[in-house]
Amino acid sequence: MKALRHLCLTLLVSLPLGVAAQSIGPDKPADFLDKEFHRQRREALRRQLPAHSVAVLFSNPLRNRANDVDFHFHQDPDFYYLTGYREPNAVLLLFSDQLMINGVATEEVLFAQPRNPQAESWTGKRLGEEGVKQHLGIAHALPATSFAGFKLDTAAFEQILLLDLPHDLRNDPRDKADLYDLVAQFRQKVGVAPDQSFDHQQVYQIIKLYDAQAGDKVQQEVQRQMAANPALAGNTFLKQYVTAKDAPARAAVAASLPKEKLNLSALEEILAEMREVKTPKELKLLRKAVAMSAIGQVEVMKAMHPNMSETEVQGIHEFVYKKYGAEYEGYPSIVGAGNNGCILHYVENEKPRLGKDLVLMDLGAEYHGYTADVTRTIPANGKFTPEQKQIYELVYAAQEAGFKACKVGNPFNATNEAAQSVLAAGLVKLGIIQKPEDARRYTMHGVSHYLGLDVHDRGTYGPLKANSVITVEPGIYIPDGSPCDKKWWGIGVRIEDDILITDKGWENLSAGAPRTVKEIEATMAKPSPLDNFKLPELK
Ligand code: GLY
Ligand code: MN
Ligand code: MN
Repeated sequence: MKALRHLCLTLLVSLPLGVAAQSIGPDKPADFLDKEFHRQRREALRRQLPAHSVAVLFSNPLRNRANDVDFHFHQDPDFYYLTGYREPNAVLLLFSDQLMINGVATEEVLFAQPRNPQAESWTGKRLGEEGVKQHLGIAHALPATSFAGFKLDTAAFEQILLLDLPHDLRNDPRDKADLYDLVAQFRQKVGVAPDQSFDHQQVYQIIKLYDAQAGDKVQQEVQRQMAANPALAGNTFLKQYVTAKDAPARAAVAASLPKEKLNLSALEEILAEMREVKTPKELKLLRKAVAMSAIGQVEVMKAMHPNMSETEVQGIHEFVYKKYGAEYEGYPSIVGAGNNGCILHYVENEKPRLGKDLVLMDLGAEYHGYTADVTRTIPANGKFTPEQKQIYELVYAAQEAGFKACKVGNPFNATNEAAQSVLAAGLVKLGIIQKPEDARRYTMHGVSHYLGLDVHDRGTYGPLKANSVITVEPGIYIPDGSPCDKKWWGIGVRIEDDILITDKGWENLSAGAPRTVKEIEATMAKPSPLDNFKLPELK
């Protein structure tokens, strides 16, 4: 018996528990993005690559949770967007011009996790090189174990485009081609030391983009960053920029900033443009993710009662998503009662009893990669108090003002400006602050971000474009002890909807979740299938 236990433990220790594989054929839901989608995205990206360049993208690594147990694997959204690959430890190379690899002319190569029958019996089937070609339609695939010996002729490229070089990776000595190894091998190929920083490229980018419009502010910002970051402090160009005496001198330095072969900003810009505007296939999935998240809100409204815990509320939402086939939550679920609702990203969700509090619930299903982001704030006992209602209706009015600013061509910040001015005026009117400039104390965050594969999705943050999806999410948070009448303490309200920008205006994709005080109270008065779901008491 002891020997058997020892054997079991040895097996467990030698093969981590973690999901690092992907289903195919009938085991895979039929409405995933298809390989043609990903092929077109790679093609669109390739068209925008500078001449004689290569784009290099790394997958996510598998992260350890404890001992021999890993966290559930989640692919890096850019990598998923371009490949559909849902395994760790991979590298994608996209070439602006065809390249000969092993005697074959190709524009792309993916180094994939190699097949491994022993590992696959623990953690599931891997695609391997053949699967990558067949199921993902990537023209050329090689095992990740061959990346070390792959000759990347850096002299042949004028630019090498990267998003980042991950630096918080763990080396698994049993795996010679995990992400730690792949990144180290890449650094060697391009002659970059393990501790070399690329922070200066971001600062160069700020200078290039904004010097002409706001040079003096940029100069201050560069000075601030140089003081805070030793990797920037000795940079000759930045020193010249911050000591430049006037605008022409600054502009001269900006024009002289070197273009480096290893470029960490261009790929981000291209992907921001691409991912901001959703294709019809993406919108189909995003609509589903948002619709099921709105239905989760409805079901919770019906089921909620004061004896529930925050974590039980979270469980009901997440059960609804799973029932619809969502793989994950798009971000850690937030369920905060009373004062907990005033903590913007409260994720502990451990208060045992909701009582009479307002409950802020910010949750979103992730369905086949695309995530919703929907918040409703409701009274646990089904009825808003007068104070709760006043704050709620103010946030509601601010959100309505934000919706009106959802127009193609409006600056990205238009929703924020419209909503914040309503919030500020309302807080003054209620006597919670004296002057509008003090509103930020209670309205700490911006009102919109893009939504897609990421909850805070990539995008240009320029004028709004048709077929992009943004949130409109004003909030007021008045924690206990705030300098206002005690009657407001512990009230935190956020209302968040997911808005599709269209050529004709906008569409609220999360409209299925009740939003007015009247609708919420009416929904909460309805019966729930969970009313009679009783479990045995645990001793
Ligand atoms: N759920 C995170 C956010 O609303 O941005
Ligand atoms: Mn949001
Ligand atoms: Mn949210």
